[in-house]
Amino acid sequence: MRIRPSVIALFTTAALIQPVAAEGYDTPLSSYDEGLFTPLEDLGALSSSQFTTLRHPAMPYHSIRIKESRFCDTGVKTYTGYIDIGLRHMFFYFFESRHDPDNDPLLFWTNGGPGGSGAMSLFTAIGPCLVTNKNTTVHNPNAWNNQANTVYFEQPVGVGFSYADTGDVVGSTMDAGDDIVAFLGIFFQHFIKFRGRPVHMAGESYGGKYIPVFASKIYDQNTKLVEAGLTPVNLTSVVIANGCTNVEHWTTSTYDVLCQDPDFPQLASIEACVRLKQMVQRCKKSYQKSCVDTLDLIDCSHTAIDLCWKLKVSNYDRTRPCSDGGNIDLCYPRLLNIDGLLSQDEVQIALGADPRFRGAYSYKSNAVGEAFGSSFDIISFRAEDYLAALLERGIPVLLLVGDTDLMCNRIGIERTTMELEWSRSGEFRPLPLRTWTANGHVAGETRSGGGLTYATLHGAGHIAPGDKPVEALTLINRWLSGKAP
Ligand SMILES: *[C@@H]1O[C@H](CO)[C@@H](O)[C@H](O)[C@H]1NC(C)=O
Ligand SMILES: *[C@@H]1O[C@H](CO)[C@@H](O)[C@H](O)[C@H]1NC(C)=O
Repeated sequence: MRIRPSVIALFTTAALIQPVAAEGYDTPLSSYDEGLFTPLEDLGALSSSQFTTLRHPAMPYHSIRIKESRFCDTGVKTYTGYIDIGLRHMFFYFFESRHDPDNDPLLFWTNGGPGGSGAMSLFTAIGPCLVTNKNTTVHNPNAWNNQANTVYFEQPVGVGFSYADTGDVVGSTMDAGDDIVAFLGIFFQHFIKFRGRPVHMAGESYGGKYIPVFASKIYDQNTKLVEAGLTPVNLTSVVIANGCTNVEHWTTSTYDVLCQDPDFPQLASIEACVRLKQMVQRCKKSYQKSCVDTLDLIDCSHTAIDLCWKLKVSNYDRTRPCSDGGNIDLCYPRLLNIDGLLSQDEVQIALGADPRFRGAYSYKSNAVGEAFGSSFDIISFRAEDYLAALLERGIPVLLLVGDTDLMCNRIGIERTTMELEWSRSGEFRPLPLRTWTANGHVAGETRSGGGLTYATLHGAGHIAPGDKPVEALTLINRWLSGKAP
């Protein structure tokens, strides 16, 4: 196997994007008259032919356009729409639980990229329907809305049907988080039947950076909501599948998975491994110096790109013949069906996609990827610090890892878990890995303590929950009911 570092859109000529601030969110929150506000309460009151616009006096710059959409899962109530945040508009899909929507928890999902739509996992892995070709979807018996109300984001703005009036795209995890927090803020003001309901923030891949930040912002916003006399979001856990959280481990672990993985044969030649090992040492030294010991963004970014990023291998599943591509759809060609499905007129009308953005749909936005590259988010943003801070505050974290993914691989992720610093890390680190089972079979290995759970899924690649749907659903349902695997 050749090791070819993939070129993602780093250092393009695209100007640094300055997203519009989440204007007005802080100020008016504490000064509104509850009597002026009538929440919608009942989602059943929504129209299926046109959007209903929901507002809240505490959040004058935010609204939700939502409609009922008979789409994907005819057995449950389904809603689609936009959260409007000033000039930015974020598209979402909401599927009620198949089990008990009035009592089941809420799970919010995002994919990674950066620039990948939540439609990726919705339609090829964990959503209520899976796309089989560009015209057809089939019922998914292993959907994650079997026991949870699920919301899929097309985020950040610039991805999928989401757009900004200015044509800008969002280019950093922190800015993306402001939109998510605004979304949850207004969502719960209207859908009061979901108020206080356990909320699980979930995602995969670059979601390993998004989700720790989104959950942290939700946590911090709760303080303001309480001060304003509003109900806080019941943030209950964080779930990340094959998360690319820690860039140093993400890149240097390439050596481990290719050259010294005890569970798999060596994939690279001795010569390649020796060269890789030397690169790893240089990356680690410089990363520590310019990204950890000092916080020089430019220096850190150059180091990370020159010495570390080259180590990254774009292989999303070592068991598939797709090792050399930078594109995830080479490994997961079913992703391409999403573009076919969501480009169709009838589907776009049923979903309520904004007419200005009808036409060819793409499940990934290169512009968003470029913006994250230009803002150095990809290589120098340390989401692991947010993960540790959440654990410190008692928010349980589940890191689920398909073990045949080389991209955001199990060795790098396990290393990240071992280095996270929080008060109860002593209850996690010394534990041996043990096997966990689904349907009576060993499904992976796990270590769980101090609020953190690490669990592998045997034989699953980068889109792990789609590769091992029964096992992944077993795990997530256990987790939603408060149990470790
Ligand atoms: C599939 O979609 C295409 C347009 O994308 C349309 O022309 C064709 O009629 C559809 N086929 C079926 C069987 O619906
Ligand atoms: C959050 O959800 C849990 C589980 O249902 C519940 O026990 C707890 O009371 C909720 N907390 C709040 C603040 O609503």
